Amino acid sequence: MDQVQDGEAQLMYLTPEQERILGGEEGWVKAKALKVIVKVGEALGADKLIMIRHAHVSGISYTNIGEPGLKFLEELAENGAETTVYTTSNPTCIDLAGKSTLIDQGYLEQQLLVNKALEKMKIKPTYTCLPYMLRPPSPHEHLAWGESNAVAMANSFYGARTNREGGPIALLASITGYIYNAGLHRLEERRVKTLIKYEDKLDDITASLLGLWIGENIDEIPMIDLPTTPRIQDVKLLLASAAATGSHALIVIKDLTPRKTYIEDIDDKITISKRDLFRTYKDNIWKGGKYSLAYIGCPHLSATEFHSIIKLLEKKRDKLRGKIVLSIPPLVSSMFQRELEVLRDKNIIEVITGTCPVVAQFKYRPDIIVTNSGKAFFYLRKLHRLDVRLASLNNIIG
Ligand code: F3S
Repeated sequence: MDQVQDGEAQLMYLTPEQERILGGEEGWVKAKALKVIVKVGEALGADKLIMIRHAHVSGISYTNIGEPGLKFLEELAENGAETTVYTTSNPTCIDLAGKSTLIDQGYLEQQLLVNKALEKMKIKPTYTCLPYMLRPPSPHEHLAWGESNAVAMANSFYGARTNREGGPIALLASITGYIYNAGLHRLEERRVKTLIKYEDKLDDITASLLGLWIGENIDEIPMIDLPTTPRIQDVKLLLASAAATGSHALIVIKDLTPRKTYIEDIDDKITISKRDLFRTYKDNIWKGGKYSLAYIGCPHLSATEFHSIIKLLEKKRDKLRGKIVLSIPPLVSSMFQRELEVLRDKNIIEVITGTCPVVAQFKYRPDIIVTNSGKAFFYLRKLHRLDVRLASLNNIIG
């Protein structure tokens, strides 16, 4: 084994195979990609590289990466960069079904060039923030995922190991098959310090509120103790919200997060209730009345969630108080072609595919948006400066 040295940085041990790649025997693109992974790993104090089983590339929306991002991806693709592990892609900035009245398709051409470059590198055209729906990770499995909600699900729900990688690092890890052994890849870094006892049953809005509150108030890795086993859709909302307002990538949920994927080292205990959360966020909660748009599907809806929501919408269609927008992965769209045609005829329900309002641009500015997603609430206000309120799905549709 050889060592890479760089001034004061941690020495990293490389296998002969990794040395071979660095020496350019598998092409200069792969060598350069690995060099970046090694350098970042050294800066983070990693002792070695580890093999990954799945990379998820975020930061592919043209509205976010612009021309420099497109050129970076095209250059990699033109120079023969290719994934060496299963690799999925995050949502784009366009409605891939091309039917949206809400999403601006102004960057259609540019986004399609981004997609072309990704697909040339053999990245799967999944265009969703639910990579775990396509390939659920196993406990202890190493991943290189971008997209904060997916990272939090991988670590907290599946017990897999990934840091919150940026899109470029996840892509370089996908090309090399390696990531640095640092942060949440190491069991000793998965140390739970705070126990949060939540006293009420979780539903969609309380999951979002609890997530927002944790992101804003807790710095270290928490464990949540809930009175009943939560539904997966509520876990998604909670983790996505906490990852939006804070830097959380792992939140242990007692009796749900796989055992032995974290270390319990609790030195602080907090109790919080639904009442506390509603009091804290009272100005942000929808009080009823009309809304110009209700957004459901941040994170994207799974096939099961989408199916149950459209069944509910069928019953309540005549009572809706505004337009409903649902965002889904392309895979779910392909599973519900017939239902989507029916919904499109109704005009009041819109389904957008392979995108979401946060990473896209709007054709018009809705007055009041309601959503059950703490993450959408946070980013639609922060990035798009919109008036957004939180409400449960039952209140929105009921
Ligand atoms: Fe997914 Fe967009 Fe929300 S990428 S997590 S639906 S902000």
